[in-house]
Amino acid sequence: MKKILVATVKPFHPEAVENIKEKAANQGYEFQLLEKYGDQSELIDAVKDADALIIRSDKVTREVIEAGKNLKIVVRGGAGYDNVDLEAASEKGVVVMNTPGQNSNAVAELALGMMVYHARNHFNGKAGTELRGKTLGIHAYGNVGKLVAEIARGFGMAVYAFDPFIDKSIIEKDGVEALNTAEELYSTCQYISLHIPANEKTKRSINFDMLNKMPKGATLVNTARKEVIDEEGLKKVFAERDDFHYITDIAPDCKEEIAGKYDGRYFWTPKKMGAQTSEANINAGIAAINQIIGYFEKGDNTFQVNK
Ligand code: 3PG
Repeated sequence: MKKILVATVKPFHPEAVENIKEKAANQGYEFQLLEKYGDQSELIDAVKDADALIIRSDKVTREVIEAGKNLKIVVRGGAGYDNVDLEAASEKGVVVMNTPGQNSNAVAELALGMMVYHARNHFNGKAGTELRGKTLGIHAYGNVGKLVAEIARGFGMAVYAFDPFIDKSIIEKDGVEALNTAEELYSTCQYISLHIPANEKTKRSINFDMLNKMPKGATLVNTARKEVIDEEGLKKVFAERDDFHYITDIAPDCKEEIAGKYDGRYFWTPKKMGAQTSEANINAGIAAINQIIGYFEKGDNTFQVNK
């Protein structure tokens, strides 16, 4: 009997877990749940006899892959798979998939929600600003970026995007102006919303020079990954420009330094919240178990990311 392990430090909504459990049982698979674990050793121990693993931002290191003697597939319920050691997985013939698009709306709503919250001074009673008429640059026009653009247009923002991997005509049919370079995007937009993945090319790519191009009243919105920010550059722009704001769903490593000095110009969620809705959890969880069943029963590897 194949065993499916759901290992999530940050649990899925209970309904998502129930759905996964039920689908696994219907297929005749065994199911194990490891939630809110405190130590990586618990995952290493639990994965030992698992055939399939469903995770979120949980760290699937080489050690985890090697401990999973029967492991054939890891599905990241979500978009970013920078938490999985793809090289180790490929070496062991373990298929790694993500579930693209399943939690995008939740992340997009949070991006706009944080923008309103920050523009209104965290609801402290003082006069804030509005989003209508402001310029917003979407840095990477994938599933989340596209939805952020759609919602922002509803707010009356002027929306721009830069994505070297997407044909300009696809972006422009959404009423979004496609720009040619990231530099052009940063120079044009008062708000920049980041939707790039964290990989060797993008890590620390959002640096001082990029941020300093932003016009007066600049606000950087990060619901992507903290690793894409060059934190030395971030600290420098905070120090040199008193109009610069940073709002993020993933607190920076230098948060103590910023928090002490630049009150009112930053906001971060206490815990990464972007995909934390029941809808997103159910969508991503069901997609994950369906993809596992599709792979085991039909060899369907559509969403494999380590091909
Ligand atoms: C993703 O990559 O899908 C998001 O960052 C959500 O991550 P989470 O599942 O850890 O909330």
